[in-house]
Amino acid sequence: MQKLAIQGGNPLQGEVRISGAKNAALPIMCASLLTAETLRLTNLPDLHDVGTMRKLLQQMGITAKSATGEITFKGDKVENWEAPYDMVKTMRAAILVLGPLVTRFGDARVSLPGGCAIGSRPVDLHIKGLQAMGAEISIEHGYIHAKAKRLKGARIFFDIVSVTGTENLMMSAALADGVTVLENSAREPEVVDLANCLRAMGAKISGDGTDAITITGVEKLHGAHHRIMPDRIESGTFLVAATATGGSITLRETRADILETVLEKLTEAGAKIKVSGDSIHLEMNGRPKAVNVRTAPHPAFPTDMQAQFMALNCIAEGSAIVIETIFENRFMHVQELRRLGAHIDVEGNTSVVRGVDHLEGATVMATDLRASACLVIAGLVAQGETVIDRIYHLDRGYEHIEAKLSQLGANIRRL
Ligand code: EPZ
Repeated sequence: MQKLAIQGGNPLQGEVRISGAKNAALPIMCASLLTAETLRLTNLPDLHDVGTMRKLLQQMGITAKSATGEITFKGDKVENWEAPYDMVKTMRAAILVLGPLVTRFGDARVSLPGGCAIGSRPVDLHIKGLQAMGAEISIEHGYIHAKAKRLKGARIFFDIVSVTGTENLMMSAALADGVTVLENSAREPEVVDLANCLRAMGAKISGDGTDAITITGVEKLHGAHHRIMPDRIESGTFLVAATATGGSITLRETRADILETVLEKLTEAGAKIKVSGDSIHLEMNGRPKAVNVRTAPHPAFPTDMQAQFMALNCIAEGSAIVIETIFENRFMHVQELRRLGAHIDVEGNTSVVRGVDHLEGATVMATDLRASACLVIAGLVAQGETVIDRIYHLDRGYEHIEAKLSQLGANIRRL
């Protein structure tokens, strides 16, 4: 098991380039199943999950030619319409091949994703939507088996906002017969990036970014080139780290318009933020003020930034309330933060964090992707050395994080 060792106390200074968004790249890679022509994706992040998704698509018959930060896919020889358990269990986003397989080939066998650390994370809304479009779905031996001669457009209402549910059904509807309306759909920027890529492939989609998306099915989709949008969660993570360490950093090749609630909260914590073009500059002097956080679907505060703000609140002036409304078990980082000396009380989906003037380094364990990022931030501010175990979680979602942090002056090394 690889570990990260961090000596706390260095304010982050300097510039860092933001990578392409993991949560845009994963669904967009699955769009390669929707056409027999080539789909060229650039600004792809070099992440474990991107590698896993590439392997999954290749074993289905997609050809994938990789170069630095880009992959060119071709879907003219897809014969194996299956996503096996051993691939799905390590990466839930594999469920995103279900819709494309059913709508292009009329047949799919995708392993039910297991639960994961942050919650049970069912896929019932994905299945219900496909059934509404005419797919026959049976669940046997832990596999979803979906069949359809040709999917039909339908009006689908999400009783819970689901990001990958919206993405799966948007891809399914792109080749269906007729018009599909997705109501109470996810408004995340990654959904819009997928819609942009599908439109470049010839899909007819409108309303993405709102809570009602209309897709008019077409007979075929053609190849395209798409540049993956910047990662707003990586951006937010670096900005929180700079705020917590009292630093001064500039993010390059990012976007501020997809981070508004995060930038607002950091300003409330006392950071000075300047945006110019695709750069965000953040300056932080002195101790941050505690800020309340309540997660909810975009454009509200993102659940993927909750753990990072918990770390910031641990050393902030005052107390803060952190409410997690998306996942039922996304406070695993609390136990680990307590080992570093944090004062946090948890009651159901609400945590109360009372800022202490310093944390003390210790050995802690990462439990999920964003909890790992939270522990890195805590390690950057703690006195002494913090060792974080099980950092494979971190490698799933952050491209070369210790190299980027070292470049910003952090004292961090991989053991
Ligand atoms: C996406 O997960 C992201 N992953 C997650 O990022 C992110 O935390 C989450 O959206 C919320 O923003 C990718 O995009 C690959 P949901 P997803 O379906 O789509 C319930 C990270 O750190 N639900 O929006 O799986 C579900 O249990 C990851 O990068 C159902 O009940 O999340 C949850 O409580 C972690 N039935 C809520 O909806 C369903 O069929 C939101 O889940 C689907 C979801």
